[in-house]
Amino acid sequence: MRVYNFSPGPSTLPQEVLTKAQKDLLNYDNCGFSVMEMSHRSKPYKEINQKAQDLLRELMNIPDNYEVIFVQGGATTQFEAVPLNISVNKKADYVITGNFAKKAYKEALKYGDIAIAASSEDQNFTYIPKNIVFRDGIDYVHITTNNTIFGTKYAKLPKTSAPIVADMSSNILSEKMDVNEFGVIYAGAQKNLGPAGVTVVIIRNDLVDKTHELCPTMLKWSTHIKDQSLYNTPPCWSVYVMMLVLEWLKNSGGVEYIQKVNEEKAQILYDFIDNSDFYVNKVQKEDRSIMNIPFTTPSPELDEKFIAEAAENGLKQLKGHRLVGGMRASIYNAMPIEGVKKLVDFMKKFELENK
Ligand SMILES: Cc1ncc(COP(=O)(O)O)c(C=O)c1O
Repeated sequence: MRVYNFSPGPSTLPQEVLTKAQKDLLNYDNCGFSVMEMSHRSKPYKEINQKAQDLLRELMNIPDNYEVIFVQGGATTQFEAVPLNISVNKKADYVITGNFAKKAYKEALKYGDIAIAASSEDQNFTYIPKNIVFRDGIDYVHITTNNTIFGTKYAKLPKTSAPIVADMSSNILSEKMDVNEFGVIYAGAQKNLGPAGVTVVIIRNDLVDKTHELCPTMLKWSTHIKDQSLYNTPPCWSVYVMMLVLEWLKNSGGVEYIQKVNEEKAQILYDFIDNSDFYVNKVQKEDRSIMNIPFTTPSPELDEKFIAEAAENGLKQLKGHRLVGGMRASIYNAMPIEGVKKLVDFMKKFELENK
């Protein structure tokens, strides 16, 4: 039986996608074998690779002066790839809004004059810093648009004349974004895009050939741009399932449609938490994520009980990250509204029984 799965990543996938992948598992499009067993130089795989890129371009309205590549190593590898690829003055500013932002900053430190322009660590990352002043002469500003662990997101991008490099791993395709406002966008697939194993990088083409002299071939964006993400063996199955997820999103009504659904889902949960004196979400209201919603009950013991009983009721993977505690409901694109309603019903019942 399928349950409602609130995992922060790898995360729930649309049932239609899983059913289609299952159907194709033994015999893809009458090839007589699966996508997992197919040469990445074959015609069918090249078509999958191209279609995934076309769909992403269409859904995100990616302008022609941006390159799109599919690489491996997760978003974490891009923490290193970013300073190695955009290396003009070897100077960049980072905004620290959570654990992943901090990790990105630490990797970049090795490659130049890297500074923290602002941080919300003073309040355990429960807000997004505002009115940030960046240094002159920087190659880029690095931000994390949605903070998976802490449940915050940028309602507005910071003002800067430098290119914004965005880790969009946990909110890509969740709402309308203007790609023109970014220099680079990267995202691990395992939340809104598909299974783990593939990472999407979208790069404005004037930022492509500014590579650090020590940048390894595999980390160079230009390597993958030149070979259409086929420089070496790609994670074929992950790219294929990502293509199915993108197709699902397009057929569902695209980003505009899913944004409405996502906002409605988040509203249902936040309204319930805000009207309760039992559950608490500590994030500043204007900075709340619509993808990851952390909350607590009055005690760590009750949190544990909540997580166990929720799982018994078909609401799984709700445990919060150890840096925050409590629970976290990750309600990415593939989480149906019914899942959130069922969660709120359970929260009501749990509160009555444990108050
Ligand atoms: C915002 C954000 N950035 C980076 C990462 C790390 O991604 P990966 O595990 O693909 O390296 C995650 C993982 O959850 C994330 O949520």
